[in-house]
Amino acid sequence: MSELFKRTHMCGVLSMNEVNESVVLNGWVAKQRRLGGIIFVDLRDKTGIVQITFDDTIPQEVFDLAQSLRGEYVIGVKGTVRERSAKNPDIPTGDIEVLAQDLVIYSESDTPPIYVKDDDNVDDNLRLKYRYLDLRKVKMQRNLTFRHKITKVTRDYFDENGFTEVETPMLVRSTPEGARDYLVPSRVNEGMFYALPQSPQLFKQLLMVGGTDRYMQIAKCFRDEDLRADRQPEFTQIDLEMSFVDVDDVLAMQEGYLARIFREVMGIEIQLPLPRLSWTEAMERFGSDKPDTRFGFELKCLNDVPCIRDTEFMVFAGALAGGGDVRGICIDGGSPSFSRKDIDKLTNDTKAYGAKGLVWIRCEENEYKSSVNKFFTQEQLAEIASVFDAKTGDLILIAADKPKVVFDSLGFLRRHIAGKLGLLDNKKFNLLWVMDFPMFEMDEDGVMKAMHHPFTHPKDEDIPLLDTDPLAVKADAYDIVLNGVELGGGSIRIHERDLQQKMFDILGISKEESQRKFGFLLEAFKYGAPPHGGLAYGLDRMVMLLAGEPSIREVMAFPKNQNAQCLLSDAPNTVDDAQLEELHIRLRNE
Ligand code: AMO
Ligand code: AMP
Repeated sequence: MSELFKRTHMCGVLSMNEVNESVVLNGWVAKQRRLGGIIFVDLRDKTGIVQITFDDTIPQEVFDLAQSLRGEYVIGVKGTVRERSAKNPDIPTGDIEVLAQDLVIYSESDTPPIYVKDDDNVDDNLRLKYRYLDLRKVKMQRNLTFRHKITKVTRDYFDENGFTEVETPMLVRSTPEGARDYLVPSRVNEGMFYALPQSPQLFKQLLMVGGTDRYMQIAKCFRDEDLRADRQPEFTQIDLEMSFVDVDDVLAMQEGYLARIFREVMGIEIQLPLPRLSWTEAMERFGSDKPDTRFGFELKCLNDVPCIRDTEFMVFAGALAGGGDVRGICIDGGSPSFSRKDIDKLTNDTKAYGAKGLVWIRCEENEYKSSVNKFFTQEQLAEIASVFDAKTGDLILIAADKPKVVFDSLGFLRRHIAGKLGLLDNKKFNLLWVMDFPMFEMDEDGVMKAMHHPFTHPKDEDIPLLDTDPLAVKADAYDIVLNGVELGGGSIRIHERDLQQKMFDILGISKEESQRKFGFLLEAFKYGAPPHGGLAYGLDRMVMLLAGEPSIREVMAFPKNQNAQCLLSDAPNTVDDAQLEELHIRLRNE
């Protein structure tokens, strides 16, 4: 092996403080160029890039070696730090350079298939296939270090507050979080399968029954769902559970945690207590259970505006007659930014949320222009505009439909438009709690489902409603929302056996099925379960938002692509017949 040059410094930390010091650096060649009798090499390690200069003060063979360097060669350099004559304000080490005295090449490199540069626009799949090259980017290393720092502060905080980190199993029975499971066949139990955990939910509750009192885990979770920018099949939760607590206790503990994270990793003091919005208020004001409050455009209900209540315009009249809503948003000064074509495009984008159209009203100097001029007089349009306190230059967009469609459409539009208008300031961090979620929701097929999960405790005062009007029951469930993203969620759990049974009854889960699926939890509750509650954060999402990244893939070392594949290791893949046979599996030829 070539001689190892023992490192004294990292590349990215060198500054005027080290001038005249002898240093030894190790790293990758980011760039090499020759100018007359001088060779400049940009040397990169995880901390950054520094310029190395080889000139005629070194022996010819060292100079020749430097001449042979190419991109991504791995080298060691001995030299002396000196002030640069031509400073480079674009990089942190731009005031200095290292005048080389000796050089060793540890590894050569073929021409890399992707360019290792922070802001390079490489195809995502190529980046994932050559992730080890992609990870050499200073930005990617910064993200990994940043993530590490967040997990470190997390462990410190919860440790100081009496939480014990416990590992729960990865080969489990499926837990009911609502997504599809990843299954693992059992060799020794023919025909049987484990599931990879969607979350440690049931085990953390069992830990409470087991007396652990306060539990935390940085836990891998697996969900076979469609991928998006903030969703991966394999992701990490900061998972927490506490015994002998109510909602306020859990939220206070979490606010302390969030304040600590923001202070230590962002240098930001957040204002406590965090705002709390009820689920109902979040929907009515923002059309979303994860409201982004960095900008306005709040929803207004128009159901009771006389000209709408009494209108013959079928779109509105039909919606109201069918128990639906007419609601709208007002884009301050937005009218000039959206042409007729732009509004058509917005209308089209909204179709994904079930909307059948959008009514628009432009507030101009002396008149209201609208897609429904035929049905409403200028006075009536003024009446509608006044609900929004609209002024000249504003654009009002209105949807009429079933409440869910109206909320989803307008909720999408307000954030989509804010994005187009550049109002999503990623230096602003708006944290809030959404509280009092409905316990149940009815799906399209008229089936009752738990909105969070079936172990969520209903609000005490709503328990009588379980028998009479279950859809009106609110839960002791809460989500923590950051800039319109659900960062985490949790609840106070049911620890009473009878109440748990009642929930299963309402959800149409038979005694036999509940026994089969969660019998072990119900059994555990027979032997003394403490009142308990908790929550889980999506670690990847937290790191993404705090690092200002657009996708969780930027803060995971080895993420999957849109088709849930690892392009680097080529997973998933076929397996040998012998392996299948051992697992008692025969593939169907379809
Ligand atoms: P929930 O299902 O809300 O709750 O998940 C908690 C948090 O995990 C993150 N998350 C994801 N992140 C990346 N990719 C995914 N596919 C993904 N799915 C979820 C989100 C989410 O808020 N056991 C309960 C928690 C509890 O009640 O204590 C649970 O898993 O940020
Ligand atoms: P129409 O009478 O179908 O031409 O529609 C008149 C206006 O109402 C157009 O601007 C449509 O985009 C709008 N529209 C249609 N359906 C809806 C709806 N459900 N909510 C709001 N506006 C709608």
